[in-house]
Amino acid sequence: MSEYILEAVDVIKHYKQYDQVVYACNRASLKVKDGEFVAIVGSSGSGKSTFLHICAGLMRPNDGKVSIRGTDIAKLKPDALARFRGNHIGIVFQNHNLIPQLTALENILVPTVMCAREDHTYEEHLKKLVAALDLENRLHHLPSELSGGQQQRVALARALINRPQILFADEPTGNLDRKNSEEVLRLFTETKNLLGQTLVVVTHDMTVADCADRVLEMRDGVLYEL
Ligand SMILES: Nc1ncnc2c1ncn2[C@@H]1O[C@H](COP(=O)(O)OP(=O)(O)OP(=O)(O)O)[C@@H](O)[C@H]1O
Ligand SMILES: [Mg+2]
Repeated sequence: MSEYILEAVDVIKHYKQYDQVVYACNRASLKVKDGEFVAIVGSSGSGKSTFLHICAGLMRPNDGKVSIRGTDIAKLKPDALARFRGNHIGIVFQNHNLIPQLTALENILVPTVMCAREDHTYEEHLKKLVAALDLENRLHHLPSELSGGQQQRVALARALINRPQILFADEPTGNLDRKNSEEVLRLFTETKNLLGQTLVVVTHDMTVADCADRVLEMRDGVLYEL
């Protein structure tokens, strides 16, 4: 078994823009060890979100390999990939993507309904997450009734509820004020230190990057170790 939880090797993704081909990822590679906190920085348009979405199995690369715990996710059929994602991967999007018609609690529980895991009962974990994220009094509110920071904390709880092997986050503090950013950052470091959570975070926020074990910079679709 590989010592890496994530192995992305020579990932290529290109988009057609009119008569031009844009290489969003141009042989980007990243290997992440269990329990590591990796931050990816880089200028706008350098390919960070594309790379993160490919590693999280939300998008398929044109070429290259992405394996999580030894499973080559690019080779999984759509059903198997969706199951694998639900069981092993947590994702926090920049705009949190909560379902507007569902309460905070219902949003948090979506992964447990979509991917029921026999080996995991979530009630205890839910209590801990809700307490750590200070959401006790907000569980029955709709996303539109929550502040931006609260919505982001709900999104984080949803990403962590199934105890993912790896958590990907795209600009998780991008829309937050300093206090809420600090809260989210505290949660990241706590899940890493207490639960050994593996984290891959795209960020412009240097206070987030400063907390990471390793920082890489994406430039023109290639990742460079800083
Ligand atoms: N669906 C798409 N169709 C065409 N081009 C795309 C698409 N998505 C992204 N691109 C292009 O791919 C490149 C990388 O985009 P990406 O969103 O990965 O950058 P980013 O580093 O996340 O930028 P930001 O920091 O602004 O979020 C950009 O040139 C972008 O225009
Ligand atoms: Mg982006």
